[in-house]
Amino acid sequence: MLALAVPAGLAAAGDGPFARVLLWTAPGAEFTELAEQPRQCPRSNLAAGASAEALAAGEALFNSPALLGGQASKAGLSCAACHRGGRDNPHFLMPQLSGAPGTADVTNSFFGPQRANARFDPVVIPDLAMPGKISRAPGNPELARFVRNLVVEEFSGAEPSPAMLDALTAYVRTIGACPAEGGKAQPRRLADQLRLIDQVLVGARAASSDAALRRQLIAAARHQLGLIDERYALRHAALRRDLLAASRDLARIGEDDARWHPALQKWHAHFASRLAPRLRQQEAASFYDPARLRRALGHVVSPPQ
Ligand code: HEC
Repeated sequence: MLALAVPAGLAAAGDGPFARVLLWTAPGAEFTELAEQPRQCPRSNLAAGASAEALAAGEALFNSPALLGGQASKAGLSCAACHRGGRDNPHFLMPQLSGAPGTADVTNSFFGPQRANARFDPVVIPDLAMPGKISRAPGNPELARFVRNLVVEEFSGAEPSPAMLDALTAYVRTIGACPAEGGKAQPRRLADQLRLIDQVLVGARAASSDAALRRQLIAAARHQLGLIDERYALRHAALRRDLLAASRDLARIGEDDARWHPALQKWHAHFASRLAPRLRQQEAASFYDPARLRRALGHVVSPPQ
């Protein structure tokens, strides 16, 4: 069973912890994981030829559990759960999947029956900014093949469309290492979620004739709204109601084959001018604020398994 870290006194929407990320975070690393992330220094040279739309769509998908299927998606895992900002995650720990923190067995039957190898063989989650066993050279088809197999065979996701794969590989190719100066981490902020919602809007320009990509982008934006919602738990009832309404509007827009794109643009204009400023205004009173977060996590308890 998964050990659910439930901060006492925090009103979780359903069962489970107030922040999904706690489902796969090693005990003791909760605060660091929720407050910090690796710095991101995208490179532009490798993705030469990729459009800004594809890159934006790829980053949005990379951060969205809807790309993956089955148990991974249900748990709220996205590529970014293991590869935070495309990098690694030394705190990743899911009892059925990890040995030591920072490792995962991506051939585990938890994720999908197709590639399950019946052996428990977790390996260190690689930092995708570093050269690895899969070539990132532009034009080399290996990366697209690898990502396709990850999504479909390891994580039981639906077959990605060519545009989705182009987007994901374009993004993975831009993941870069940062110069040593400036420290390793940067704070997690509301701006991260708002930026990924903006990426959805940019990516949507490339989705006109691709219903699968469109639905994935809508799901990606809704996921970011959910992440914002977690940070405004306990107080901020009006904001949370409006976040929920915004998410439902998006779901409806995603079903409208004919008019989804102008409707999405209108949704975003409204979101950016009305809801986002109110969220920013309250950010310091939300769990994006490190001091508040630390106090809340001070009450973390792990229920008996
Ligand atoms: C549960 C954690 C987890 C998730 C989720 C995950 N990965 Fe990984 N990823 C790993 C591990 C562990 C490896 C190393 C596997 C190996 O060496 O066989 C890896 C390897 C990779 C590599 C190869 C790196 C190299 O050596 O060149 C790429 C590229 C990659 N992942 C991209 C993705 C993408 C894209 C997604 C989402 C579709 C994703 N990963 C989701 C854990 C994860």
